[in-house]
Amino acid sequence: MATEANTLWCVVPAAGRGGRFGGEVPKQYLPLAGRPLILHTLERIAAHPRIAGLMVVLSAQDHWWPGVAEINGKPVSHTAIGGGERADSVLTGLRALPDSVADADFVLVHDAARPCLRYEDLGRLIVEGAGSGGALLATPLRDTLKRADGANRSIETEAREARWRALTPQMFRRGELTLALERARTDGVVVTDEAMAMELSGVRPLLVEGAEDNIKITTPADLKLAEFLLERTL
Ligand code: CTP
Ligand code: MG
Repeated sequence: MATEANTLWCVVPAAGRGGRFGGEVPKQYLPLAGRPLILHTLERIAAHPRIAGLMVVLSAQDHWWPGVAEINGKPVSHTAIGGGERADSVLTGLRALPDSVADADFVLVHDAARPCLRYEDLGRLIVEGAGSGGALLATPLRDTLKRADGANRSIETEAREARWRALTPQMFRRGELTLALERARTDGVVVTDEAMAMELSGVRPLLVEGAEDNIKITTPADLKLAEFLLERTL
């Protein structure tokens, strides 16, 4: 049961090529404070006592996986091979989870490229996710939102109210999320996060406000910012 201690598995999609970042080595393996970025991410997740294990999803062409089998006493598995889209990678990760994870059990999904996740945010997501049937970390939009034309001219200002930026981790029941991702794929919809797949299935995931510094490393400038944030966001 998901209410017991130490029972949550986390799927970590890490099969992306990092096209926006550029370079030969995928961003999740670049050095961050002296160690591969992905190790920081995995440690942040494994640090929480409710986490039972981590399922890292790697690309078939991965030459860089640092080969850890355990973090903080939690198993780190990498038996799942990623697909063309993030959602495909998450789906193979969900399918590769151990049989001990029941369909009704909650699982987390967290981007390998988000190494600055705060312990307190993870804890709140776990509590509120279990109480709401499914949830994600997110931050309300703070800036004024513009719609641009093709020449980057601002056409109009859009309402900021009720707009949030979706982060990870996201937390749903293993069976429901698997079904939702499979359905989206069958329908030809590329979902960019788990919550989007659940929304298409008629579910309304709870938005749990998390810190904005849970950044997704996307460009080289983000790596510098993450280095700055790392010790400040424990
Ligand atoms: N990811 C994945 N499988 C894919 C695409 C992405 O497992 N087919 C993972 C990435 O490794 C990353 C997370 O999903 O940890 C978030 O994706 P993103 O930040 O978009 O990473 P990339 O897709 O690698 O980068 P880009 O979009 O710039 O190519
Ligand atoms: Mg991508």
